[in-house]
Amino acid sequence: MTLLVTGCAGFIGSNFVYYYLSKYKDRTIIGLDKLTYAGNLKNLENLSDEQKSRFKFIKGDICNSELVEYIFQEYDIDGVINFAAESHVDRSILDPQIFLKTNILGTQTLLDVAKKYWYKDGRWKEGKKFLQISTDEVYGTLGPTGYFTETTPLAPRSPYSASKASADLIVMAYHETYGMPVNITRCSNNYGPYQFPEKLIPLMITNALEHKELPVYGDGKQIRDWLYVQDHCKAIDLVFEKAKPGQIYNIGGNNERENIFIVKKVIEILREMTNDDEINEGLIKHVKDRPGHDRRYAIDARKIRQELGWEPEVEFEEGLKKTIKWYLENRQWVEEIKSGEYKDWWERNYGRR
Ligand code: NAD
Ligand code: TYD
Repeated sequence: MTLLVTGCAGFIGSNFVYYYLSKYKDRTIIGLDKLTYAGNLKNLENLSDEQKSRFKFIKGDICNSELVEYIFQEYDIDGVINFAAESHVDRSILDPQIFLKTNILGTQTLLDVAKKYWYKDGRWKEGKKFLQISTDEVYGTLGPTGYFTETTPLAPRSPYSASKASADLIVMAYHETYGMPVNITRCSNNYGPYQFPEKLIPLMITNALEHKELPVYGDGKQIRDWLYVQDHCKAIDLVFEKAKPGQIYNIGGNNERENIFIVKKVIEILREMTNDDEINEGLIKHVKDRPGHDRRYAIDARKIRQELGWEPEVEFEEGLKKTIKWYLENRQWVEEIKSGEYKDWWERNYGRR
């Protein structure tokens, strides 16, 4: 079995490569990644030699149909798991175009090439599947109560979530129109190792370590539903292996927290681990809110639990401690990122707040 995993050098993609190659000893991954600012081959350096022999990396863009065709021609691809995306809401607010290009047209390119190679003589080849990795953000925002289910109408509010919702619609259109074997997963906010430090949890960890301000948008009472990345990977594997084509699954760990709670928890654990008293709540700075900031996300994941038997394993505080420990042990990884393009981004996003 050979999988094409796009976005394999990003946060969730790289965690998935480790998970998958450790679990299935006889399977191979072709990894395709453009290595944008968020993609980092160092994320894959800890594969064992044996795992490396079952992993082939190709640098390239999912919008490049010739390259994607070459991959399908060269390797007998059994499945595609599409992680590749521009993934950060704040960047999408500053510069939406690349989000539409990669997230929508890139997905359509992958679908078209997969269809060309998997649909022969009026039928789909056996055992093929296209899995689109999507997000709960496609459902928009919730008030203080209620949960997103798979039938909640799509109501995205940021350029990022609008691009992901568009991709979901295209994926389902290929299923309805051509009978393509597809699934979509919509997961809540992930945290864990290898997450680029522009996202809330790694940003707070890495800033606090340098005694820098911890920018909390608005009142900090916005709620996200956090899931440890490995529990997400486990869910993706289950959906890929077991779900019926055409099905969509929400993924979330019933772990709703206010942003300000997360920031205070990071401070508390970091101070405990480092004995550094300068890491304290005085670093918190409430800054101008994100435009169109979604107030609350909360996932109803009963479908994947009941139909596929998925259960998250990592409790939030345990996952957060593991994550913080990883960032403490990988200071070099952070340093290299923070000294590159990230510096300009910091100025553009936070300079004006
Ligand atoms: P990430 O930004 O860390 O990684 C994205 C990866 O895609 C990077 O390696 C980047 O180089 C690559 N990429 C970007 N454009 C590309 C292109 N045109 N061609 C090939 N590769 C390209 O993102 P992530 O957090 O790992 O998210 C992965 C997927 O999961 C995304 O589709 C995202 O929408 C979805 N998702 C993320 C979360 C989360 O909390 N991080 C939650 C739910 C869903
Ligand atoms: P983020 O990690 O960007 O994920 P998403 O926007 O996809 O949910 O942000 C998580 C939450 O944290 C979100 O409500 C915005 C907030 N946030 C801050 O308060 N300060 C920050 O510097 C960042 C990056 C995010």
